[in-house]
Amino acid sequence: MIEKTVISSILTGIKPSGDLHIGNYVGAIKPMLDLFEKTERSFLFVANAHSLNGLPPLGNIKKQTIQQVASYIALGVDPEKTHIYLQSDIPEVFELNTILSAVTPKSWMNKAHAYKDSVSKNIENKKDVDENVNMGLYTYPILMASDILAIGASHIPVGEDQIQHIEITRDIADRFNHYVQRDILATPEYITTENQNTIVGIDGRKMSKSYNNVIPLMTSIEERTKAVMKITTDSKGIDDPKDIENSTIFKILDCFPQSSRHNIEEFKNNFAVGGIGYGQAKQILADTLNEYFNPAFERYQKLMQNSDEIERILADGSTAVRKIAREKLIKIKENIY
Ligand code: TRP
Repeated sequence: MIEKTVISSILTGIKPSGDLHIGNYVGAIKPMLDLFEKTERSFLFVANAHSLNGLPPLGNIKKQTIQQVASYIALGVDPEKTHIYLQSDIPEVFELNTILSAVTPKSWMNKAHAYKDSVSKNIENKKDVDENVNMGLYTYPILMASDILAIGASHIPVGEDQIQHIEITRDIADRFNHYVQRDILATPEYITTENQNTIVGIDGRKMSKSYNNVIPLMTSIEERTKAVMKITTDSKGIDDPKDIENSTIFKILDCFPQSSRHNIEEFKNNFAVGGIGYGQAKQILADTLNEYFNPAFERYQKLMQNSDEIERILADGSTAVRKIAREKLIKIKENIY
């Protein structure tokens, strides 16, 4: 959707979740870091109020939020350049949510995927259609629109599943602007990167927590190596020529083509003609991933031991973002009340 447009500001919202894996890195985090590099202003927030809709066990949101923030900083988000903050620290977003709820037709919410999926599951399981559907889930797209429109971000990187939410955000902004007869809310564009950048898991299917086939990101060299050693292969012997195109080991390695310890090109050739076994190939992949991610893991551990530092970063982030959101909200309120 973008390509040639100038990106003036990027906003990324992430749901708190522990246990990031290298699929998240390749599919979402790395493309996001690259976008941040090219952008004047960038915002990264943890959508903890969105998580509340699932009513997770108490304490989970906080723990996962801290892990998430520490992971993203360790992986290269620079708090000096990117405003990092928590959704729950920006009351202006929730006030805007009330205003935007007034201009949003109920029928738009009826069509939103997350809600519709819950309803179809209930019907499938012969339950009441509204079972486990709270109002937070139902109006989720309005809160997401509020996150975006309060900041006035121009571009939003999202996975395929979030495109509809950005379209709804644009429609809400248009409807609001039409109501006040002024262009107050900026309609955002989405950027999808995920589909060009998928990575296979250790069983050869798409890497995903739900398939239980992930290589974890923030973990020790031993644990990361252990996951790599579990990659499924065929039963070819050391001297047999091997099929690089269909090798899970190489599909993963292709996402990380640089290694200071191994000559990947040479290794590829030897693997193709025979002479390298799967065990050795896995070790080379493990070395490469460990070289790539272990420095980030060490930074992560340091940050996790220094929660004051994380608190300070989040406080700075919310101060800066509240200023922006407050100005926007004042303008909005002047026009409607
Ligand atoms: N709904 C997004 C997700 O599930 C998270 C999110 C909430 C978000 N608010 C946002 C993403 C605003 C981008 C912009 O991944």
